[in-house]
This record gives sequence, C-alpha cells and structure tokens, in this order.
Amino acid sequence: MSGLRQLSRAGLETVDNWFNRAFGPAWNPLYQLGALGWFFYWITIVSGVYLFVFFDTGINQAYESLEYITNVQWYAAGVMRSLHRYASDALIIVMMLHLMREYVMDRLRGARWFSWVTGVPLLWLVFACGISGYWMVWDVLAQYIAIASTEWLDALGIFGEPIARNFLNPQALSGRFFTLMVFIHIAVPLIMLLVMWIHIQRQTNARVNPAKGLTLGTLGMLLVLSLAEPAVSQAPADLSKVTAVVNLDWFFLAAYPLLDRVSGGTLWAVFGGATLLLLLLPWLPPKRREVPAVVDLDNCNGCGRCAADCPYTAISMEPRSDGAAFTQEAVVKDSLCVSCGLCAGACPTSTPFRRTTELIPGIDLPDLTIRALREQTLAAAAGLSGAARVLVFGCCHGPALQALRAPGVAVLELPCIALLPPSFLDFVITRKHADGVLLTGCPEGNCHHRLGIMWTEQRLAGERDPYLRKRVPRERIRACWAGVSGSRRLQKELAAFRAGLDGLGPLERERPQPASPAPGQEQEHRA
Ligand code: HEM
Ligand code: SF4
Ligand code: SF4
Repeated sequence: MSGLRQLSRAGLETVDNWFNRAFGPAWNPLYQLGALGWFFYWITIVSGVYLFVFFDTGINQAYESLEYITNVQWYAAGVMRSLHRYASDALIIVMMLHLMREYVMDRLRGARWFSWVTGVPLLWLVFACGISGYWMVWDVLAQYIAIASTEWLDALGIFGEPIARNFLNPQALSGRFFTLMVFIHIAVPLIMLLVMWIHIQRQTNARVNPAKGLTLGTLGMLLVLSLAEPAVSQAPADLSKVTAVVNLDWFFLAAYPLLDRVSGGTLWAVFGGATLLLLLLPWLPPKRREVPAVVDLDNCNGCGRCAADCPYTAISMEPRSDGAAFTQEAVVKDSLCVSCGLCAGACPTSTPFRRTTELIPGIDLPDLTIRALREQTLAAAAGLSGAARVLVFGCCHGPALQALRAPGVAVLELPCIALLPPSFLDFVITRKHADGVLLTGCPEGNCHHRLGIMWTEQRLAGERDPYLRKRVPRERIRACWAGVSGSRRLQKELAAFRAGLDGLGPLERERPQPASPAPGQEQEHRA
C-alpha cells in the first residue's frame, strides 16, 4: 500500500472509530453509505408519489398547488414535501461520501472497476433529478435555475434555437416546456433505479438496506427536521422581473453561482473533464496484479460453497462437464475475479490435514495455493520458540504485521483473512504447531473484500461452512480486527493473548487425522 493511501486510510479509520464509539460497528452509517443511498432514494420516491397526487403540473397552477401542500395540508403532504427535499439532500451527502470512501479504500481498480464506472452516471442523474425538482416549484429559485440551466445548455451549441429564449418574458414561456421538466423529474429517477440496480450486479449480497436501528434513527431525524424546518417555496416566479436574491440549496445547486463568473463552455469542460477522469481512475497506475482463482475438477464436488462465498459473483455453478458423478461444477469467470481467495477458504477440500501430495483443493489461488500456505504455516511454526507461541494470520489490508515478529510470534500475510480455511486453525493448534492463533485484518464492518470478516466469524462460530471443529479450544484463538491504524491495538491484544495462553495448561496432542475425504464426502471438519 502506498504511503499516501495508507495515510488516507488511517484518517478514514480515525473518523470511522469516532462513529463506532457513538453507534457501534453494526450501526455505523459510514459503513453503510451505499445502503443509505438506497434508503434515501426510496424515501424520495414514496414522498414524491404522494406529492404528485396534489401537485398540479400546469405552469400557472404548480406554485399554488405547492402552497396548498405546504400550508393547508402541512401535516401530511407538507411533511412529505419536506421529507422529499431533505432525503434528496441526504442522498447527495451519502453519495459523495460513498464515492470518496470507495476511492480511499481502493475498491475501484482491477476487476472491481464495474461498480465504480456505473456509479459515475449516478452522479449526473442525481443532480438532474434535484435540479428538475427545484424547477417544478416555479418560484424565484426555479426561475433562476431555469434561466441559468438553459443558458448553460445553450453553451453546448446542440440546440437549433437557444432554449433560454423560453424564459425571456411571460409570453415566451410555453406550458409544454414546463411539462417536459415534470416528465424529466419523473423519468430520471426511473433511469436512476435501473443504473443503481446495474451498479450492484457484481456484488454478492449487496447491502441495499441499512441496519434496522440506523434506518429508524435516520427516518426519525428526517421527520423531526421536516416538522421543525418545513420545506417552503420562495416568492412566485415572475419572468417580467429579474430575480435579484435567491436562497440556494447548496447540496444541489452549488455550481450555479460559478456560471456568473465563468462561461458555460468552461463549466462544461470542467465537469466533462472531471467525469472523464473519474471514469478512467480504475485504470490509472499503479496497476493491480490479479491472477484469477483456478478450479481443479478432480477435487470439486460441486457443493457450491465457493460460489456462495465469492463476494464478487465471479463463480457460477454449471452443469458437470467431466462426466464425474456430481451434478454441477464451479466455474470462475476470470474477468470478475479479484484474487481475494475467499473461495479457497470455503472449499471443503482446502484442508492441511490432507497429505501434501494430495493437497490440491477444488479451487485455489495460483499466487498463494493452499499447499503453499500449508508449507508456509509449517515453516513459520518451526521457527517459533519459547512459551505462548503464536501464529498470526493477517490480511494485507489490515495493520502492519512485520513489527509483531518475535521468537514466540510468527506472521503470515494473506490477501484476505477469509482465504484461511478454519481447518488450518485446527491443524495448527491440535497438532501443537503453535499454542495459539491470532487472526487480524480490516476493521469489523469495513472488510476490504466486503464479506471476508463476516464469513470468517461465521465459520469460527459454526454458523457457516466450513465450520471450525468443536474440539479446537476457542481460548487459543483470538481475532483482532484492527485496520491499518490499529497496529498498537494489535500489539496490545497480542501481548494480552500470549499472557492468557501462558496461563493455560498444556494442550493434549490430537490423534493424527485420517487422510482427507474424497471430493463429494462431507467435510471432515464439520462439527
Ligand atoms: C445513488 C448513488 C449510489 C448508490 C445508491 C450506491 C449504492 C451502492 C451499494 C448498495 C453498493 C454495495 C455495497 C456493498 O454491499 O458492499 C455500492 C458499491 C460501490 N459503489 Fe456505489 N452507489 C451510488 C453511487 C456511487 C458512485 C457515485 C460511485 C463512484 C463513482 C460508486 C462506487 C461504488 C463502488 C466502487 C462500490 C464498491 C465496489 C466493490 O466493493 O467492489 N457508487 N454502491
Ligand atoms: S468443492 Fe470446492 S471448488 Fe467445488 S464447488 Fe465446492 S467449494 Fe467450489
Ligand atoms: S478469488 Fe475466489 S472468491 Fe475471490 S473473487 Fe476470485 S473467485 Fe471470487
């Protein structure tokens, strides 16, 4: 990880930690920005549909109908209007934070380009929704937006007649132009929904609903804000007058004052250039090396665990092609694979109890095979000495590991902690290769590979295949999800863990395990 990225990641984790202290990792809004985006989208849709019942789409009636909504039916449609406005502002905030976060977390390069690139049009669509929405109020703000936007569009030079002419005077304004705006305000959210759906297509179990407490808390806050500070219109539009002062919504309209200072063409160049840069970011250096996972059909029984655990929908289960007695086989789509190794950690054949000559699992990472991991584990364990010997397995996106090395501590770095099959913990501890195992990686709730920590915890807790066997003493296993900024915390945790191990009695050596099951048999480590 480059120094700058490490620094920005540490900064992000510091802010995350403040929120963790206030909300806990499960309700931390910064861990669920995409899901909050969906939530705010749905609030704007539901409130928008309700408003549309009372909204009059005629240019001369629109303002009056909104006055009715705000002042007469303030308790229902009025609240809906405020919810509509504040949820759309909140959508801008979470979307911008989400973009920055994904960038800092480096979740955009290599095979992960897709979500990033499909996120970019969402930026334009969200702004188009908001701007057309303000237009529909037809107050002085709408008048200002209408004139500034059409002048800006005219700078593109693609319209035969300048469209800003529509707003020269009241006689020039056609109702049809206003109806077009209403149509845009309804059509764009539908296009947005389609793009949002495409945006998450390469994510397994994409999180589109925030945690329940966060959802209720956020909705409550929006309701309180709506009642305390209801959304209102400004003075009605009057094309015979030049609008001198308008109150801007800075979330949506911050760029408008720029139009008074720079030409429309310059602003198009700036926004067009920024969009292009965003679209190219996933391919800018440093290039990421991603060698896709490989399936070995001789060892694949078609159980589907790898496909269920892959966070990036890179594995599909297809009809068997080799005539073996199983119905399906795993197939990796190379262009989607980010080499995280979660699939190898899920495969029942990835067990170090198998003889080394046989240790080719159903699915493996060429850059770090399960066989190589076994050899590295044994070599690291062989170098341990003294009491309370600990093997630390950590992911390369978490805290720095090298500083932990000591006569009684060895470290092994993995692309993701969930590459490590639970049988390795069993192997290390019951075969007495070490007295304890410490797992570390990204902060809980913010796994670089999305689901790695969750799968690891569920596997250790016996809630997800492959299970950690019950015979493995849990007091000899410790997890510390410290993140890049948590090196000191990890060191303290390691010291406390070793002190605890010291106090435990000697571990009885397990009887050697029989050779591993043939593919198709149930995993030997199932508790
Ligand atoms: C309306 C706006 C947006 C919504 C509702 C939204 C929603 C989401 C959701 C639900 C996820 C999946 C999170 C997970 O379960 O891991 C996600 C992932 C992602 N989004 Fe967005 N997003 C929006 C805009 C953007 C924008 C503007 C960008 C950047 C240009 C972006 C980039 C990404 C990236 C890079 C990922 C993660 C990909 C990965 O982990 O491989 N999104 N988004
Ligand atoms: S045996 Fe391994 S490679 Fe085959 S489907 Fe199961 S988990 Fe995937
Ligand atoms: S390494 Fe495995 S789990 Fe990770 S993306 Fe590739 S196929 Fe999916």
